[in-house]
Amino acid sequence: MKKLIWPGATLLAPVPPVIVTCGSMEKPNAITIGWTGILNSHPPKTYISIRPERYSYNIIKESGEFIINMPTAKLVKEIDWCGVRSGANEDKFKAMNFTPYAVDGFNCPAIEEIPLALTCRVTDIIPLGSHDMFMADIVNVVVNEDMLDEKGRLEIEKAGLMAYAHGQYFELGKKIGSFGFSVKKPEKQAKKKAKSFQQKHASSKPYVKKKTAKK
Ligand SMILES: Cc1cc2nc3c(=O)[nH]c(=O)nc-3n(C[C@H](O)[C@H](O)[C@H](O)COP(=O)(O)O)c2cc1C
Repeated sequence: MKKLIWPGATLLAPVPPVIVTCGSMEKPNAITIGWTGILNSHPPKTYISIRPERYSYNIIKESGEFIINMPTAKLVKEIDWCGVRSGANEDKFKAMNFTPYAVDGFNCPAIEEIPLALTCRVTDIIPLGSHDMFMADIVNVVVNEDMLDEKGRLEIEKAGLMAYAHGQYFELGKKIGSFGFSVKKPEKQAKKKAKSFQQKHASSKPYVKKKTAKK
């Protein structure tokens, strides 16, 4: 196949179109952000890139905090709308029927209707050109209790997440793998191996650790 070479562009896809909340419980705002991602694992760090002309820009710059509300497919209209209307002219929480809820240690609210949120504190602001990058520590993850299984593990598929690619919104599809699965032994094979190990050692005497005198 012939490969075409285009000039550099922001075509990395998909990205999560998050709703970033900022401001206060009394005067909250919500801005849709596509330019976001994870920067570091320990400590957990993220970024959002914002154009200085956005109404949210100064709010976040002055408060030094924001909350990333993860994108749920059933809120796609709200996600788009918060990305084409400005909080300078409208109360976006009211218009979108978002219920603000307070999070410990933060002035800005998160959105009740979104089951997963990351509370973030700005550590650096880096001007890049069209956008300034707000680097931030992820202070807490806020998660709806009903997204956990009986062992308390997060079942992320319950969040109904969505993605943004080349100007279009997509619902996430079916799970096709999980971390490290490509090198994992098939479960059947692992079980068989464990069974034959047990059978082999069933008749042998149990191993008793010898007591050693305390020094
Ligand atoms: C899918 C999508 C992604 C967007 N991503 C960004 C972004 O990463 N950075 C940015 O500054 N604006 C982005 N925008 C535009 C802002 O959300 C938009 O200008 C919004 O009206 C600003 O709100 P505010 O004036 O209340 O802050 C995006 C819009 C959409 C629809």
